[in-house]
Amino acid sequence: PLTPTADIVGPAAAAGKGVGAFNVIQLEHAEALVAGAERAGAPVILQISENAVRYHGALEPIGLATLAVARASTAPTAVHLDHATDLSLVRQAVQLGFGSVMYDASTMSYEDNVRSTADVVRECRAAGVYVEAELGEVGGKDGVHAPGARTDPAEALSYVDSTGVDALAVAVGTSHAMLTRDASVDFELITKLRDALPVPLVLHGSSGVPDADLTRSVHAGMTKVNIATHLNKAFTLAVRDYLAANPEVVDTRKYLRPGRDAVAAEVARLLDVLDA
Ligand code: G3H
Ligand code: ZN
Repeated sequence: PLTPTADIVGPAAAAGKGVGAFNVIQLEHAEALVAGAERAGAPVILQISENAVRYHGALEPIGLATLAVARASTAPTAVHLDHATDLSLVRQAVQLGFGSVMYDASTMSYEDNVRSTADVVRECRAAGVYVEAELGEVGGKDGVHAPGARTDPAEALSYVDSTGVDALAVAVGTSHAMLTRDASVDFELITKLRDALPVPLVLHGSSGVPDADLTRSVHAGMTKVNIATHLNKAFTLAVRDYLAANPEVVDTRKYLRPGRDAVAAEVARLLDVLDA
């Protein structure tokens, strides 16, 4: 069933478990993510990024389809807006019935980040929507690899206090859109942030983190773990293999099905790795 993000992330944080948050670009992603969660018997978060909305040209069609897939799921399933910088998009997600939004002001100065995030929190809270924000930019989008960024625990605490955010994305050594799984995660910093902060922590750019370190990150104090690129890779490799073996096929269902199946299998596996 469609489940509020707070009802998935809160209990997981309290129990020291991870929550898999995976990105939806096509409808097949949403179907695969839910199939994987049902197979693992774990909750899941389906997230749509502002970039994916730009690709489609609008939030509503893919957003409503994703909400429908979540409602039909037997696994607790939340729908989240990921990396939003556009306030009108945040408002649209709230109106459509998303359980949470990530408002990303991480490229702003500390003061501007605090001010604009606090406004978003005020508005979303009134609608019962959970807000994630980011402090200490996790780089890697647009080809910028920034594994050196770190979130300072003391600054993070005043950030959480002054914005009222429900969950915090922190920079601990990962970087977005990595194709190899060799990021070096700062586990000591995760523990310090966990001890310092009253809200669940979110790991972005988790595609670059090997299995064993995903588990270790969760046990060190990470709760929501965002994985996108790694699943796109699984999807695309399966489609490429199928098309290479069947070059005469033109029915899109024939070659998207193996992509969807590959993502479902990998999600079921990752949810175990995340102790979800
Ligand atoms: O917000 C989404 C994520 O941080 C995913 O990053 O594509 O590197 O796994 P990734
Ligand atoms: Zn991210």
